[in-house]
Amino acid sequence: MRLWSSTQHPSETQHLVASVLGRPHHLVTTEIRRMGGGFGGKESQANGCACLAALAAERTGQAAKMRLDRDDDMVITGKRHDFQVGYDVGFTDQGDILAVDMELAARCGWSADLSGPVTDRALFHADNAYYYPDVRFRSLALKTNTQSNTAFRGFGGPQGIIAAERVIEEIAYATGMDPLDVRLRNVYGTGERNVTPYHMVVEDSITDLVLSQLAERCDYRARREALRVFNSTSRSLRKGIAIVPVKFGISFTATHYNQAGALVHVYTDGSVQVNHGGTEMGQGLHTKMVQIVRHEFALPAESVRITATTTGKVPNTSATAASSGADLNGMAVLDAVTQIKGRMIGFAAEKWQVAPEQISFETEGVRIGDERISFRDFVWQVYFARISLSASGFYKTPKISWDAATGRGRPFYYFAYGAACAEVTLDLLTGENTIDRVDILHDAGESLNPSIDIGQIEGAFVQGAGWLTTEELVWDTQGRLRTHAPSTYKIPACSDRPRIFNVTLLENAPNREATIYRSKAVGEPPLCHA
Ligand code: MTE
Ligand code: MOS
Repeated sequence: MRLWSSTQHPSETQHLVASVLGRPHHLVTTEIRRMGGGFGGKESQANGCACLAALAAERTGQAAKMRLDRDDDMVITGKRHDFQVGYDVGFTDQGDILAVDMELAARCGWSADLSGPVTDRALFHADNAYYYPDVRFRSLALKTNTQSNTAFRGFGGPQGIIAAERVIEEIAYATGMDPLDVRLRNVYGTGERNVTPYHMVVEDSITDLVLSQLAERCDYRARREALRVFNSTSRSLRKGIAIVPVKFGISFTATHYNQAGALVHVYTDGSVQVNHGGTEMGQGLHTKMVQIVRHEFALPAESVRITATTTGKVPNTSATAASSGADLNGMAVLDAVTQIKGRMIGFAAEKWQVAPEQISFETEGVRIGDERISFRDFVWQVYFARISLSASGFYKTPKISWDAATGRGRPFYYFAYGAACAEVTLDLLTGENTIDRVDILHDAGESLNPSIDIGQIEGAFVQGAGWLTTEELVWDTQGRLRTHAPSTYKIPACSDRPRIFNVTLLENAPNREATIYRSKAVGEPPLCHA
């Protein structure tokens, strides 16, 4: 059974189709060139269509295709979990948090789907960037008679972070302090003040640095004063400004998902084909993977070709999710390339009688001692010497562990940080609101591709703003979804984007952990800036 599925998780699609058909995994292959967007919605929910189509193909002996009409799609498929959060917070007159007690209830829909891990991640982020000396978090995954909710960019993290920021706002209202000062007082620091509710130590809290840098850069304090003056004289328009940090844990909280594979072939004409277990959905993963191969062999763009993701080439893959696509697959690609390079260097060192250090891959060709030879000619010689030019790479994230029973461990390899400052105007008579200016400072480590990463940050912000301002699901008393089309479910348009939108990557901020070229995952964290 050969499947072409719009899925973020080809292996799971393969496994579920195999189980529906009663066949072993080796008789089912899933292929996915790219999705027209996934955003978590295709992490599990592509499987229904794949299984139905496979069943139809099996029964009829014909190729079968299933593609939902947009209204049906919106009625049937799961969405992001909406949460209701209740909390108590104890704090001093100076705005220091003493204890937080929080209950996070999520509407999960009619099946479990990914609600377990989503509600877990909400708990993992209900501290956002703040140290709580005493804490009790509980999550309720509620079964409801609505669509089965699923993964969506941030995977519960944004919901937890909103709760944490609401706590901060409450303290600011109660004490009369500037919310920024409440935030700065409570961010993770050093010593005792760097332990999360799940007992992971925050080794590199840079939240105060990011917050202060951004506040200075966008002139937060002066603008806040100016808005106060404006509001005191304006009749119907009110302006607001806020500056909020983000700390986002990177790794699948299910530890075993943190592995990846890749397959790299060098052909005898010096062209390279690369395949890996991740899927492309517009986030630029394939571009980043090609960059790694090009960088290692010093090859031009046309020499490296990436092929469709398929369970036939790289098996037992994890979903491309949790923002870890580039982290995991990038290291697997690097592993495969490093193996091939190792063989090439071993061959050249022996044949040319030079030390391995005297061999390097450069744009002008391979340098071997004092000689330079084109990559193409070099590859041919390696082949002629009967040395394999193909390798499969593998990677598993080090250092992580998680014990769900005790709620302790190090579920995340590292954290991605950032902060956003937003200024908005609200018309008290019409309800019309505009986002007038947004400044974001975001930590992508040593960015693999700044253009892609800035695009991810801009897109994530606008997507998050839609979630928080215009998108609302409405069911009637019969339980029918009334907002099942773009006419009734309002996502942001270009005109809804911030009028002024400054996105900057944090500079000189290599990941302190040994990720691929010291970069950081960027897919989901910036949604929280909204
Ligand atoms: N960007 C685009 N253009 N399209 C998408 O579907 N999905 C987001 C994010 N950015 C998405 C996207 C989500 S939910 C995740 S988990 C990551 O990309 C997945 O890709 P990565 O791990 O390669 O960053
Ligand atoms: Mo993203 S919600 O982890 O697919």
